[in-house]
Amino acid sequence: MKIENATVLVTGANRGLGLVFTRELLARGARKVYAGARDPATITQPGVLPLRLDVTNPDDVAAAAKQASDVTLVINNAGIAQSGGFLAADSVDVTRRIFETNFFGMLHMSKAFAPILKANGGGALLNVLSVVSWVSGAMAAYSASKSAAWSLTNALRLELAAQKTQVLGLHMGFVDTDLAREFDAPKSSAEEIVKRALDGLESGLDEVLADERTVQVKQGLTATRPSYLPQAS
Ligand SMILES: NC(=O)c1ccc[n+]([C@@H]2O[C@H](COP(=O)([O-])OP(=O)(O)OC[C@H]3O[C@@H](n4cnc5c(N)ncnc54)[C@H](OP(=O)(O)O)[C@@H]3O)[C@@H](O)[C@H]2O)c1
Repeated sequence: MKIENATVLVTGANRGLGLVFTRELLARGARKVYAGARDPATITQPGVLPLRLDVTNPDDVAAAAKQASDVTLVINNAGIAQSGGFLAADSVDVTRRIFETNFFGMLHMSKAFAPILKANGGGALLNVLSVVSWVSGAMAAYSASKSAAWSLTNALRLELAAQKTQVLGLHMGFVDTDLAREFDAPKSSAEEIVKRALDGLESGLDEVLADERTVQVKQGLTATRPSYLPQAS
């Protein structure tokens, strides 16, 4: 999928990785960039078309699909996170809330835009996942939502093959955005992650492992002691 002359919709485009995606898409010659945001007034990037889009709201998703019917690339980027384990008192409510955005939001968007991508020649879906698709940690419900979103991405790839829609899963560890602010750990810049993601998309890849830790974790899945089990320190 080439970015030049593409018409793109990015969810969660007002800040963090989403904002950087819109900038890089414009720099690579995208014809039109719809910037989805819960509050379109928070879109500051010049040259994009702000779109009211809460991915958990089916009416917003349907309205976006009507308005952005020329889209050839959808970037499912919107996401939320919260620290805590499954044994915490509020874990069921927290898990439902996180899945509503990170899993069902992606599902709603993908279903609404699949026929549009087909009508526009196939195009692509880029789903923003994480290294925690494969390992859990301080954010248990978030990790589970990314595992589920990884499975969704793999299923969509199979279902959309017939209409020639490229489906790319993007995995990475910490990125220097608001979402990871509470963690004192090495972080990639949003700019480098977005560049690797779009390079991978333009090269026709199905999956991008955007940092070294993610490469190691994925390789470690088949180790004698796989990476998702506690490692000796
Ligand atoms: N940062 C990391 O370390 C990291 C690592 C791996 C993967 N990721 C993934 O990267 C993606 C982007 O995260 P980020 O790091 O850029 O986080 P961020 O700076 O917190 O930005 C999150 C974005 O998602 C939007 N959003 C949240 N709920 C939404 C909803 N229901 N509908 C539409 N938009 C919604 C937010 O909008 P508001 O401004 O309205 O809240 C914001 O624009 C997420 O999928 C995240 O899981 C992040």
